[in-house]
Amino acid sequence: MTFTVAIDGPAAAGKGTISKAVAAHFGFAHLDTGLLYRAVGAKMLGGADPVSAARTLDPADLDADGLRTPEVAQAASQVATNQAVRDALVAFQRSFATRPGGAVLDGRDIGTVICPTAHVKLFVTASPGCRAKRRFDELSDKGMDVTYETVLADVKARDERDRTRAAAPLVPAEDAVLIDTSDLSIDAAVAAAVAVIEDAR
Ligand code: CDP
Repeated sequence: MTFTVAIDGPAAAGKGTISKAVAAHFGFAHLDTGLLYRAVGAKMLGGADPVSAARTLDPADLDADGLRTPEVAQAASQVATNQAVRDALVAFQRSFATRPGGAVLDGRDIGTVICPTAHVKLFVTASPGCRAKRRFDELSDKGMDVTYETVLADVKARDERDRTRAAAPLVPAEDAVLIDTSDLSIDAAVAAAVAVIEDAR
């Protein structure tokens, strides 16, 4: 049985939290596709050519340390504008999406480009202020030296770049169900996502 759940949305909207919880609930595998772009971005910061890095990316690269820093996030959104980088990452994502037993993929273009026929498409969003606050708390908890203002600026800069790029811009799929998590607890956001998937099964 294949069953694909596509979860897209802007930076720090709660996609990761919802995706992990949904995958655990239904016993599906989960791929955070942002990590692919972060891994390529980190290699670019280390001096590598991003297209070669994307073409030779190894699943083990997704476990590298330091992929969650704001610097790598910015580098990820820069390499993500490159169509050749994106093309190099398509096959891995599509094969993950169709693995037996079901899969949840979260990113920016899963419902629009990677899996346009996904069984369920969610677009998870929240106000920029909420998203920056959550990301600030998350990075501070990990001991990173960040301020709310710089995190907000990072989130806004990435959103702008992700929405306006020519290659697979961040936009909800026409048939995506929107979940605005600004005023939702984690449990309520997960319950909303689970309900949409239950309906589609
Ligand atoms: O966790 P957060 O929402 O902050 O970002 P992420 O999902 O790790 O993605 C980092 C960057 O990778 C994004 O800002 C996008 O530019 C890019 N990305 C993309 O272009 N397409 C995807 N499917 C996933 C991420």
